Amino acid sequence: MKSLNDHEFGGQHTEIKLEIVEKYLKAYSIALRHKFNSLWYIDAFAGTGSRTVRIEAKDGDLFDEPVPERVESRRGSAKIALDIEPKFDRLIFMERKPAHCTALEMLKSSHPDRDIHVLNGDANAFIQANINRVNWSSRRAIMFLDPYGMEVAWETLQAIARTKAIDVWFLFPLSGLYRQAARNISAVDATKRKVLTNMLGTDEWEAELYSSVPPSTDLLGALDAPEERQRNADVAGLEAYVKRRLETIFPLVADPFPLPPQRKPQRFSLFFAASNPSPKAIDLANRFARHIIDAGISSHVRPR
Ligand SMILES: C[S@@+](CC[C@H](N)C(=O)[O-])C[C@H]1O[C@@H](n2cnc3c(N)ncnc32)[C@H](O)[C@@H]1O
Repeated sequence: MKSLNDHEFGGQHTEIKLEIVEKYLKAYSIALRHKFNSLWYIDAFAGTGSRTVRIEAKDGDLFDEPVPERVESRRGSAKIALDIEPKFDRLIFMERKPAHCTALEMLKSSHPDRDIHVLNGDANAFIQANINRVNWSSRRAIMFLDPYGMEVAWETLQAIARTKAIDVWFLFPLSGLYRQAARNISAVDATKRKVLTNMLGTDEWEAELYSSVPPSTDLLGALDAPEERQRNADVAGLEAYVKRRLETIFPLVADPFPLPPQRKPQRFSLFFAASNPSPKAIDLANRFARHIIDAGISSHVRPR
């Protein structure tokens, strides 16, 4: 029977993503603990606190017995953040799905000594309406944006950047971008255009990413196809464009970590962005993020 905590998603890249975020949370909490009165963790796409991992069955051979498929429950981002030492002063979990919120409420009940807020609804609406009403002068926060797909609106990123107090890890859905931004512009219909503009915060993506290809002619020089505009950016070019867009609102955006790290096609880019423009804050955030991304993860070979 399915339990409230059952939340099966992602693959090996999920493991890596959570390892990177956990390392940053640890470094951040140690470094900023004594500098600010209050450190918050905001999980905008919080899930249930757990994730269900299916481990494939293995055939037996001469030496080993066959191993049946097994299902394990591991910590999701919300539980990982709760375990960080020194502890975050407040944890805010936003989640649209009511059943996931029930699981998060249970997590909250099992930690009565912690200041945990579970918000059921659309993270974009919560962030845009409330994040700049907080007095950030003596507070800092780290936010994790871990959507399934293209749910993060540009206005949400702008609202976060305006706080000048929040660092963000953002799992950007690169595969969503290259699917919506089809190779030929004629295949990008009004719905796709709207999604792209909502995600990238401008309709200039068309001019930036597409260029005209000369119409082809037949052997006698007659035109046999109308002029078409094609996307000139490949996957790496799209990722570089997203980084340039983020740099228009955040003072620091680190080179993203590609996920999965080695297998093609790349499906996600894990971006780190800091919103505090002070040179000291940028230097610290950059050193942490770069160190964690560059070192790769112990058991994973460095990408690129
Ligand atoms: C990939 S899962 C997050 C996993 C989580 N970070 C973890 O490690 O356990 C994405 C979650 O975002 C939720 N979600 C999707 N759209 C949302 C929205 N607009 N606002 C808030 N939550 C949303 C989904 O219900 C789902 O639980």
